[in-house]
Amino acid sequence: MRIVLGVGGGIAAYKVASLLRLFTEAGHDVTVIPTEAATRFVGVATWEALSGNPVTNSVFDDVDQVKHVRLGHEADLIVVAPATADLLARAATGQASDLLTNTLLMASGPVLFAPAMHTEMWQHAATQANVETLRSRGVTVLEPASGRLTGSDSGPGRLPEPEAIFEAAIALMQDTGVPAHLPLAGRTVTISAGGTREPLDPVRFLGNRSSGKQGVALAAAARDAGATVRLVAAHMEVPAPAGVELIAVETALQLREVMLAAAAESDVVIMAAAVADFRPAEVSGSKIKKRDDTADPVITLVRNPDILHELVGVRDAAGSSQLVVGFAAETGDEQGDVLSYAEAKLKRKGCDLLVVNHVGADKVFGQDNNSVVILSRAGAEPQSASGSKQDVAAIVIDRVASELSRVFPRT
Ligand code: C5P
Repeated sequence: MRIVLGVGGGIAAYKVASLLRLFTEAGHDVTVIPTEAATRFVGVATWEALSGNPVTNSVFDDVDQVKHVRLGHEADLIVVAPATADLLARAATGQASDLLTNTLLMASGPVLFAPAMHTEMWQHAATQANVETLRSRGVTVLEPASGRLTGSDSGPGRLPEPEAIFEAAIALMQDTGVPAHLPLAGRTVTISAGGTREPLDPVRFLGNRSSGKQGVALAAAARDAGATVRLVAAHMEVPAPAGVELIAVETALQLREVMLAAAAESDVVIMAAAVADFRPAEVSGSKIKKRDDTADPVITLVRNPDILHELVGVRDAAGSSQLVVGFAAETGDEQGDVLSYAEAKLKRKGCDLLVVNHVGADKVFGQDNNSVVILSRAGAEPQSASGSKQDVAAIVIDRVASELSRVFPRT
């Protein structure tokens, strides 16, 4: 989920670094917005490094992106910690004096304040009135913890522990219908996409019509589900999505090498690439010349390894519970229909799930829509999915997440 973490200018800002870690480890995408005063306690570099997102407190940075509007609208949750007396006052009176207060005014989701200040400031009638105002508008304002404060004083006013704020935030998300954790948080997913190109000479290759759209949509869906995603991309017509690690390859043999290495560190491997079954037996070091005095060249092909089958073999030999997903583009013929061919392929390849497309002249390749059936080795009923390639990707990733939690429960 997308969380905005507003940080107020109090000494407890240093504890909020741990809160940020709790959110990111649970798979949330966190944008930190410190107030100007907060950056005197903990610097922007710390928030950027821990969140992995750029940090600013000015509405005048990246003006073209109208940050406060986007952040406020897109946030599934806004947490403000430490919420100082000043921040509570500014929020209660609807001020828009910096990026954080602007974002709070644009918020469309739940908002949680975790106050921290000296006891007298917390108990002051002005602060209490501001807290009342915020609560009356549906904002959650936690009670501060009691104990030792910054100086020698003690009493109510301590920032609640990061774990307590985290739990309150999760509970608030659950109460408001926002899922509290992402289904692939903490998982690593490696996805191959696009079509391999098998060189004949320095200028020519044997390729195929894969656009990479479905693989890219899968990578984006896995990323949105909280996974760390590695996209191993053969030739693609579309750009890789942001927020995934991209490894570019060209040939089936390069794809094989990268996939075997990446799979060793992955919970899920998805082979969505269109891998050439054959490659030219010989690759000419110079351009094959067109000459009238010699016979036309004959290209001899040799088989490429079946990477999917090999990945399953490596997984089984290691006895790991990695989930391996294959894709199959099938056509029916007089000997059998698409599904019977696909069932046989699932057995042959040994993968856990096989996503089957029915291929026709105008179907699948390069198109924006897709219609698939997901077959499972465990014998579950075939599951149909259709729609845009993004819709199909979301359904496949959902299925991956549910298979994974069954065979490989979260510890
Ligand atoms: O055998 P077929 O090409 O129909 O199988 C498709 C599935 O196998 C896809 O998941 C594809 O990425 C994978 N594949 C492979 N290595 C090959 C050919 C296909 O991993 N040489």
